[in-house]
Amino acid sequence: MRALITGGAGFIGSHLSEGLLNRDYQVSVIDNMSTGNLDNVKSLIPNPRFELINASIHDESVLNKAVRDADVIFHLAAAVGVNLIVDDPVKVIETNILGTHSILKAANLYRKKILIASTSEIYGKGVKSPFSEYDDRLLGPTTTSRWSYAASKAVDEFLAFAYNRQLDLPVIIFRLFNTVGPRQIGKYGMVLPRFVESIIAGTPPQVYGDGKQTRCFCDVRDAVNAIILLSHTESAIGDVYNIGSETEISIHELAKLVNKVLGGPIYEPELIPYEQAYNPGFEDMLKRQPDTSKIRNLTGWEPEIALKDTISDIASHLGHNFEKD
Ligand SMILES: NC(=O)c1ccc[n+]([C@@H]2O[C@H](COP(=O)([O-])OP(=O)(O)OC[C@H]3O[C@@H](n4cnc5c(N)ncnc54)[C@H](O)[C@@H]3O)[C@@H](O)[C@H]2O)c1
Repeated sequence: MRALITGGAGFIGSHLSEGLLNRDYQVSVIDNMSTGNLDNVKSLIPNPRFELINASIHDESVLNKAVRDADVIFHLAAAVGVNLIVDDPVKVIETNILGTHSILKAANLYRKKILIASTSEIYGKGVKSPFSEYDDRLLGPTTTSRWSYAASKAVDEFLAFAYNRQLDLPVIIFRLFNTVGPRQIGKYGMVLPRFVESIIAGTPPQVYGDGKQTRCFCDVRDAVNAIILLSHTESAIGDVYNIGSETEISIHELAKLVNKVLGGPIYEPELIPYEQAYNPGFEDMLKRQPDTSKIRNLTGWEPEIALKDTISDIASHLGHNFEKD
């Protein structure tokens, strides 16, 4: 099997590349390295079954050729991260909507199966918990750019369903909830690597808001297993699946857990008001818990890696010396 991964030099894409290579796939990656990094795939480059194409998904001729040569496509390329969404909403909307349109057109041209990465952000600020795939969604106003990411990913989902229903293209959509693990970086606003980086640097972790908001963190290697299982499941086609952990933890507790796992001095988390961390009017969700019964019932998938082990792997990846403490 030959897989094409867009965004394959990114955090999740690089783990997916590894997961597919471990299952004897040939893997081609298209990535423009905007938030991805050569280091993420450096260890894969010597593998003759791995190919890295340094290009944008907006380059139609590169995209078409790569899609033509693939048996299955995993579309992960996107403009991601709360900071990017607030600072460069034009890029977010253009990359996410036009990029997904281009890959769907190419997949349709060559009649290839395609899996599309979506996000729990889709559910917006809905208060129901946990979120199931067919729940209503509640997004804020278009004047708040924070919502452009969720809206752009929702358009991607609509477009993917349209290609599936109208043109019979084999499409599977997966909605990732907070996915964490080695290689994720804090620079774009991701909370767990930010905390790990702060504590390694000997500074208190900065918690935005009052820290009582909860999230569910799933190790990227568990998420990758779920994505690959979906790609092997014929009956998954034409539908959408939540992927994530169902175990909740408050952000304040997360900061304390990171401190405990890393050892050394105890830092009291520093509370930073949202208006200071982001633009005025920034809205965050109190909870975001997935209902994963749909993928569980279909494929038997369950997350297996404990959060403390993920934290320890992130810290090791960042060069933390546990013995020193
Ligand atoms: N990490 C999470 O918790 C999470 C949660 C929900 C959804 N997702 C989705 O998973 C996917 C991967 O996210 P990630 O966390 O690995 O982020 P990431 O930023 O590490 O990966 C995105 C990759 O896409 C690449 N890219 C961006 N624009 C491109 C373009 N025009 N052409 C080619 N490549 C381009 C980037 O360089 C990067 O390597 C995204 O679609 C994201 O929306 C992630």
